[in-house]
Amino acid sequence: MTDCCTQKSKMPRLGEVLISRDRIAERVKALADEICHCYGGQENSELVIVALMTGSLVFLADLIRQLPLRVRVAIMVVSNYPGRSTSAEGVRINYDIQENIAGKDVLVVDDIFDTGQTLRAVVDLLEKRGVRTIRICVLLKKLIARSENLQPDFVGFEIPNKFVVGYGLDYDNLFRNHPEIAVLDIEHG
Ligand code: IMP
Ligand code: MG
Repeated sequence: MTDCCTQKSKMPRLGEVLISRDRIAERVKALADEICHCYGGQENSELVIVALMTGSLVFLADLIRQLPLRVRVAIMVVSNYPGRSTSAEGVRINYDIQENIAGKDVLVVDDIFDTGQTLRAVVDLLEKRGVRTIRICVLLKKLIARSENLQPDFVGFEIPNKFVVGYGLDYDNLFRNHPEIAVLDIEHG
């Protein structure tokens, strides 16, 4: 066996499928209905969706196409370095939204709610800009105990505390293009 093949066989790979394409599609439609029900009654109002990149990319694309609302989309690029003593230290805004959100209804969209540190920092930052309302929508929420006093308003699926990839979620910026949500298999890579 060559060095090249030995290296390749050590790469992490896709493991057990946790959520199929069909289940994702069905749930995203239902989430969009929940969101419309929440915001739809407000005439002449606009919803500003603040999407956290890059994890929410695929979810965002599917979700917004199911929302018959007046929507503006703003992008924020955020990275979290867990292990820092506070969320403010651990979360870094690499690219900020360009949209003026004062007086606006804001919906923050992210791929997964893990410790909640990322969303805590983002919500704190956006609230300071005088939003009218701010809510959170995540595709996935891990079933773990959290120190952050924050709950997402819209949740696609609650999942066990496993590292998952696909449908936008990555490991080392890989597997985002996989259409299902699968557990990352490091053991047998
Ligand atoms: P939190 O600040 O701990 O809630 O982390 C949220 C961010 O960590 C997400 O936006 C993801 O980018 C990343 N993350 C957390 N868990 C996973 C996972 O299981 N797979 C892929 N990314 C994850
Ligand atoms: Mg992310």
